[in-house]
Amino acid sequence: MASVAELSIERKYKMYEDSVQNPECDIDFVISEYQKCFGRKPHTLREDFAGTGYMACEWVKRSKDNQAWAIDLDSEPISYGLKNHYVTLNDEEKTRMKYLESNVLSDLGFKTDTVVAFNFSYYIFKQRKELLEYFSKVYASLNEQGMLYLDLFGGTEAYAPQIEETEHESFSYFWDLEMFNPLNSECLYYIHFEDHKEGIRYNQVFTYDWRMWTPRELIEILEEAGFKEVKTYWEGEDGLGGGDGNFYETQTASGCNSWVTYLVAVK
Ligand SMILES: C[S@@+](CC[C@H](N)C(=O)[O-])C[C@H]1O[C@@H](n2cnc3c(N)ncnc32)[C@H](O)[C@@H]1O
Repeated sequence: MASVAELSIERKYKMYEDSVQNPECDIDFVISEYQKCFGRKPHTLREDFAGTGYMACEWVKRSKDNQAWAIDLDSEPISYGLKNHYVTLNDEEKTRMKYLESNVLSDLGFKTDTVVAFNFSYYIFKQRKELLEYFSKVYASLNEQGMLYLDLFGGTEAYAPQIEETEHESFSYFWDLEMFNPLNSECLYYIHFEDHKEGIRYNQVFTYDWRMWTPRELIEILEEAGFKEVKTYWEGEDGLGGGDGNFYETQTASGCNSWVTYLVAVK
């Protein structure tokens, strides 16, 4: 086992992104749901809790009319994003993409068509009043035709400690549920990696100290923040007991061991 300090920033965020991010699919979903609702494509995207800003950089590549902001408190993922994603933009695209090292609760001074908060990042707000403050600020920062996109997870497996391993070509990714407290829904997750080439395991590379919110709770808080409608989605099945990656709008679903889905709040 090696200490996380020995893991390079480059390798750390490359393994993270390869394991948990798919900006192409997320952008397709954002555009298609916005278009269904407002009959036009969205042009501006604010990526909250953006980390490396991978999605925001892909957003500006999609269209000359697109503009994006990536907001994160931490300079480390932002510097990775600048070196690995921002550099892939041409000079014109760079003028439409901005990283902001800032708190998502700050008054950022601009409005957008869409705000995304993905990979469950808003679970850091453990108190209802904190989450209401965040959603209210997002509501105020959206254009009149505006949408907030959230992802969320649940299922019976989210309630008891366990580690899920996913093998990639050169490394393994471990999603470790260390603790779930049923009395207050607080949970503690870690991401570990094992580098196959070096034969080294890096423990607790990322730590998430969260509250697991349910869809019903989120809908109620979003409505209280002013959103006029909250759409719920569920993933189609692949016939082998897994998800097929296609999310459809619905208000009913059957529970299962593990699920990940989206909520979309319409201003
Ligand atoms: C789970 S990562 C998400 C990264 C990326 N959005 C993704 O989908 O994988 C959470 C990120 O949120 C950032 N963060 C936590 N609290 C924040 C806040 N109040 N304002 C801005 N960023 C915050 C952390 O620095 C971290 O980079």
